[in-house]
Amino acid sequence: MLLEVVLALVIGALLYQFFFKRKDETLPVGDGWWGPGTRTDKEEEEDIRPFKIETTEEELNDLFRRLDQTRFSEPLEGSRFNYGFNSTHLRKVVSYWRSGFNWRKQLDILNQYPHYKTKIEGIDIHFVHVKPVNLPAGRTAKPIIMVHGWPGSFYEFYKMIPLLTDPASHGLSDEHVFEVICPSIPGYGFSEASHKQGCNSVAVARVFYKLMLRLGFREFYAQGGDWGSLVCTNLAQIAPSHVKGLHLNMVMASAASLPQLLSILLGQRFPGLFGFQDEDVRRMFPFLKKVFYHIVKESGYMHIQATKPDTAGCSLNDSPVGLAAYILEKFSTWTDEEFRDHEDGGLERKFSLDDLLTNVMIYWLTGSIVSSMRFYKENVGKGIGVAKHEKIPVKVPTGIASFPNELVHCPLFWAKKKYVNIVSFNYMPRGGHFGAFEEPEMLAKDILQFVGKLEQK
Ligand SMILES: *[C@@H]1O[C@H](CO)[C@@H](O)[C@H](O)[C@H]1NC(C)=O
Repeated sequence: MLLEVVLALVIGALLYQFFFKRKDETLPVGDGWWGPGTRTDKEEEEDIRPFKIETTEEELNDLFRRLDQTRFSEPLEGSRFNYGFNSTHLRKVVSYWRSGFNWRKQLDILNQYPHYKTKIEGIDIHFVHVKPVNLPAGRTAKPIIMVHGWPGSFYEFYKMIPLLTDPASHGLSDEHVFEVICPSIPGYGFSEASHKQGCNSVAVARVFYKLMLRLGFREFYAQGGDWGSLVCTNLAQIAPSHVKGLHLNMVMASAASLPQLLSILLGQRFPGLFGFQDEDVRRMFPFLKKVFYHIVKESGYMHIQATKPDTAGCSLNDSPVGLAAYILEKFSTWTDEEFRDHEDGGLERKFSLDDLLTNVMIYWLTGSIVSSMRFYKENVGKGIGVAKHEKIPVKVPTGIASFPNELVHCPLFWAKKKYVNIVSFNYMPRGGHFGAFEEPEMLAKDILQFVGKLEQK
């Protein structure tokens, strides 16, 4: 034990010197261009065009033909979801997709909110923009940009949008009413993919910052989990005077500082030293099992996507069933890791097959799985902790909704290293990685109380 502590101290001190000498820098906004070929001098067209999701019969027939031709493999006896998607169950999902799932109905649901596209930095950016319906007299709506992650889409927010734009009709206080903007990350769904290498989270944050300015918002809130959490964090770093508050349902904290290493070694025995609550201890310890092995077991996809996205993506873009298995396995395990032990992956415990397949359809019809996977290469392909934004603290007031089944729990003590102005940190009673999709009301309430706290000040 003593040796471990001494070793950790030495390594920690070195790492601390290296990564965490806090410089009071801000992240430059920068500029970029992601269109094909060379950038033209022509001024960018700034028009915002209404957009509707449409599907041709041809696209649907092609999908059905491919579903009909699927070559399944047999699962190992009793393996459930421990080897990945149970292919016996996959047959059931595919049979529903083929004959029960009504895409036309889902299209109406998708198109119930106004969609738009506009060109930014050479590529077409898609977004949903919903204004409040029953804004109480004398009140102005608060703009909020909500950013999805992988393997999700703007659709993850669909159950939350009415709670924020029309809270009174859903039994919530209408003290704060929002105008919601849900963009698609470039290369995801209906946003055009970058044609150039290097379109990372900071570039996407800048693109979304330009989008918000183009829409006329000088001040706004930002919310996200997964990649959305990183993009919104970068947004708060490049435009701190425009982002009024940052709300996250996942925190990516690098654990490379001396105090953090000590908290890993000593946190279970001396939680008070690090301000750990019982809930932190429950979620993090024993550390090897709950965090370390968990990350190793569940992050293979990330290694592939951060190195050779185009190779692995090739078959996924060619096979709707392969795509569904790859995406939906995440909606099983990332919602609750114990779902690996369910024969059906527990998929329908928290989601409907209609909602799950709608998200898969967004990837399928747009052929965007490869470009979505490339985002890992752009963000972590050069290593973790090396990008400039990772070393710069976030000063914008931050609210964190911490779900118990999140992939890696980030205690307040760690989060504070990066987010130096945390005004609310709440342990959610249930739910996993897809907070907005899984527990829309819980997440909406947390955003409302966070904004309430900020606006009071
Ligand atoms: C796969 O799922 C089905 C339920 O859809 C179940 O009957 C079967 O036992 C499962 N197979 C394995 C190997 O777990």
